[in-house]
Amino acid sequence: MNNFFESERLVFRSWTQEDKDEFRKLNADQEVMKYFPDVLSHEESDLLFDRIRKNMAEKGYGLWAVEIKKSGDFIGFIGFNNADFRAFFTPCIEIVWRLKSEAWGKGFATEGAKRCLRFGFEDLGFSDIYSFTAVENTRSEMVMKRIGMIRIAEFDHPEVPMDSSLSRHVLYMINKKNFFSDLTRSPTD
Ligand SMILES: CC(C)(COP(=O)(O)OP(=O)(O)OC[C@H]1O[C@@H](n2cnc3c(N)ncnc32)[C@H](O)[C@@H]1OP(=O)(O)O)[C@@H](O)C(=O)NCCC(=O)NCCS
Repeated sequence: MNNFFESERLVFRSWTQEDKDEFRKLNADQEVMKYFPDVLSHEESDLLFDRIRKNMAEKGYGLWAVEIKKSGDFIGFIGFNNADFRAFFTPCIEIVWRLKSEAWGKGFATEGAKRCLRFGFEDLGFSDIYSFTAVENTRSEMVMKRIGMIRIAEFDHPEVPMDSSLSRHVLYMINKKNFFSDLTRSPTD
């Protein structure tokens, strides 16, 4: 198994063909995809799956498959994306997360995202990391707050129709200095 790193309860690893079905299920779940334009069809999910694997192979970072250390259960992905749509803060590195609904409410996103931030700052040499989501997606915004990111703006996502309730986004950011000076962070985060 090609593991990149671990946190207390989670393993971050590269994807295998065996993840394809679970990935389809994740992207077809209405609850998980509530703040996206739509759920993904199997074909769309497979295209994204191939793109994620290609990106990871080319860059050495991206969206890692996340599993629970104890059980080996796949729960979704957390990782980095290069955001390059036209906006005042792009191009930038964005941290993203998408977990199976059964894995919500246990702190996995917060734990995993903190670990990814550390990997991003320490191992990948990033200086600033951004995150954004539709204003309605308060669960995702809460993760941004819990991992110490600072809310810096609201913006209309240029790739979402202006008349959609998903257009308005919150934008958060954290830099290396702030991450390492966060005294609430445990040494293993
Ligand atoms: C965004 C998403 C990852 C957040 O999941 P989440 O479960 O709310 O977040 P966490 O994993 O950090 O868990 C926090 C919750 O677990 C609880 N919790 C339990 N044990 C915990 C622990 N050890 N540490 C921290 N929180 C813990 C917290 O109290 C909190 O509960 P609450 O939701 O009742 O306030 C999830 O909703 C998701 O995948 N959504 C779909 C995809 C999506 O919208 N992605 C973002 C697009 S930009």
